[in-house]
Amino acid sequence: MKIFAIGDLHLGHAVDKPMDIFGPQWKDHVRRIAENWGERVRDQDLVLVPGDLSWAMHFEEAEEDLEWLDRLPGRKVLIKGNHDYWWPSISKLRDRLRGTSLFALQYDAIDIGGAAIGGTRLWTMPDLDIPYEDPLEIPSEQGRDSQGPNPSEMSHDEKIFRRELGRLELSLGSISPDARLRIVMTHFPPTDESGRDTALTRLLEKYGADLCVFGHLHNLGLPRDKTWDFVKRGVRFVLVSCDSVDFAPYFLTEVGDAPIHRSTPGSPPSRG
Ligand SMILES: [Fe+2]
Ligand SMILES: [Fe+2]
Repeated sequence: MKIFAIGDLHLGHAVDKPMDIFGPQWKDHVRRIAENWGERVRDQDLVLVPGDLSWAMHFEEAEEDLEWLDRLPGRKVLIKGNHDYWWPSISKLRDRLRGTSLFALQYDAIDIGGAAIGGTRLWTMPDLDIPYEDPLEIPSEQGRDSQGPNPSEMSHDEKIFRRELGRLELSLGSISPDARLRIVMTHFPPTDESGRDTALTRLLEKYGADLCVFGHLHNLGLPRDKTWDFVKRGVRFVLVSCDSVDFAPYFLTEVGDAPIHRSTPGSPPSRG
């Protein structure tokens, strides 16, 4: 089983949201993603989709986007992004996705073909100096305005961030101790381009995560095929927002019958 990731698909089959207003690289992005996906992914493969799936505001409006994603090859695991206003309760979403190729994670983890996948949305990190400016941000969201966060919003951000940290720990704690490969999906980045130590990187190390994929950052001007992809203290971090990976599912690794070599020397207490 090959494992790929691509986030921030920003679909909008039922809503009128032309994406090329965010730059010429977004022109026709849905068609290009589908073509690239079809060329790379087989039905037995796994594709991680870490958030910002759809511009839909209501669950019913996301229906066409879910159907579009389901028709693409491979099994797909989803988490919620900051733009996924359509995302209903997890029980309602899982009811809808039953029998499809899609699975939604929320504060928990799933095992697929020897890989354990956990994750959560996260939030902007109070002490992380990375560009938070999201060119796709809806200005009214969280009462944010074009002047940036004021001090009271900062404390609001910090509260959400801490809650998300707890949710991530909940998810990491539910990963099976026997998992051969531990993958974590977050929507917001857990670190910056240099792999700076953060509360999140420490948590990922503590639970022995092998791989962390995330999105949210857009239009960074990265050269083609040069997204962030580095290993720091045994955890591989990969930025997979769709414009960062040239609108193609990004190949991460392959899980076969052979044992998986771990580069992480430390083990969490629960690991066997
Ligand atoms: Fe996004
Ligand atoms: Fe986002």
